[in-house]
Amino acid sequence: MKCINILKLIKTNKIDKYKKHLYIKGWIKNKRNTKIGIIFLDINDGSSINNLQVIINPKKIKNFKKNIIKITSGCSISLKGVIKNSPKSNKKEIHAVNIKILGYIENPETYPISPKYHSLEYLRKISHLRPRTKIINTISKIRNTLIFSLHNFFQKRNFIWIPTPIITSLDTEGSSKLFKIKEKNFFKKKAFLTVSGQLNLETYACSLSKVYNFGPIFRAERSITNKHLAEFWMLETEIAFANLKQIITISKNMLYFCFKQILKKNYEEIIFLSEYHKNKNILNNLEKIINKKITEINYNEIIKIIKKKENFFSSKIKWGSNIFPEHEKFLTEKYFKTPIIIKNFPQKIKAFYMKKNIDNTVSSMDIIFPFVGEIIGGGEREENIKKLIKNIKIKKLNEKKYWWYKDLRKYGTVKHSGFGMGFERLLMYITNMKNIRDLIPFPRYINYLKF
Ligand code: 4AD
Ligand code: MG
Repeated sequence: MKCINILKLIKTNKIDKYKKHLYIKGWIKNKRNTKIGIIFLDINDGSSINNLQVIINPKKIKNFKKNIIKITSGCSISLKGVIKNSPKSNKKEIHAVNIKILGYIENPETYPISPKYHSLEYLRKISHLRPRTKIINTISKIRNTLIFSLHNFFQKRNFIWIPTPIITSLDTEGSSKLFKIKEKNFFKKKAFLTVSGQLNLETYACSLSKVYNFGPIFRAERSITNKHLAEFWMLETEIAFANLKQIITISKNMLYFCFKQILKKNYEEIIFLSEYHKNKNILNNLEKIINKKITEINYNEIIKIIKKKENFFSSKIKWGSNIFPEHEKFLTEKYFKTPIIIKNFPQKIKAFYMKKNIDNTVSSMDIIFPFVGEIIGGGEREENIKKLIKNIKIKKLNEKKYWWYKDLRKYGTVKHSGFGMGFERLLMYITNMKNIRDLIPFPRYINYLKF
């Protein structure tokens, strides 16, 4: 018996094609009894975020009283039926001929997922069951499109994908947020989970020219915020011979491309998200990016803008300060009302590998999005060996450990640039979800490791 997926049935214009009986399998999302004895089921097999309605006339179903009467929301079933156009809507419905319950719900009263609304906080506590909800189904579909769009974007431009290592002995960012690997004496040196594949990726850029990586990143991030995870995914790219301007262009084109793909492939999901959040701007937020509404501005200018604003958060800031979330919010949501690309940060607040400009700034960029904050960070890499060593010393890093990174500068060094993008952060903007913990299937963060 060949089953047809529900998406195909929902989308079809030609129900005549299915004159004969068809077979479907899936899970019951909702069950409604009517006074006249007819039963309506909503069935879903994951292929679509929308359910298909099944109509059961108990008189026409063989084992109804013995078995089928026990169907509850959550059961898995297989079904033989006939597809018809619904007389009341433009939707299709299946009139059941035969039903088999594959898996019952033990104690339906205790089943944690009911057809009613569940808060995201509640669903997080049952991360093993939350994939059964429409919201998580929706996010999964958008996430899938985004992953493949990113690969497509780089593949179309002949970038080579390099799987950089997860176990490392180096702290790329020099920010000491590394998770230690405890397996005793295994490597005969200290080992950690990687905070960025950038340094390894640079080795390949210095031969293949255009490379990228995409994989899990681990940071012992102690701050409990709605945008920090201990395990998240990062897409990074490194491009030989490229300067800041060129990687900014690549990063913007990457965003335009991905947003277009999402609108093309997940329009229905985006519309559902607008209903879910009761926010009509979601589509508009995506279209804004596609229409290239992104502001580029120097760090120096940003400081001036914030200082001019006389309130509690402007008083804290001076040249050399980090841009804090309240500043980012003000700039992207109130002042510019667009994502912003902040360029040329002070050297003292950026990593050792950043290339110094003629003043005391580095050739760097951060892309900040409304509602989310920093999504992308990158810049030009210091390709001059002497200057690189100087930076390593300024940042008080162990120079010996970077011997191979220095080799790239010793042997045929070349100007190169790159950036890293927080995958779940970008998903936060696209889906308008407020907490990054809902954008990764099994979130890991401080004091929390479940499932
Ligand atoms: O700005 P970050 O730290 O940059 C780097 O790691 C560079 N080595 C990247 C590169 O140039 N190749 O991290 C990059 C992005 C951030 O902009 C942010 O979007 C995301 O990674 N990110 C996190 N996302 C979720 N949870 C966390 N704890 C994150 N920390 C950073
Ligand atoms: Mg950063």
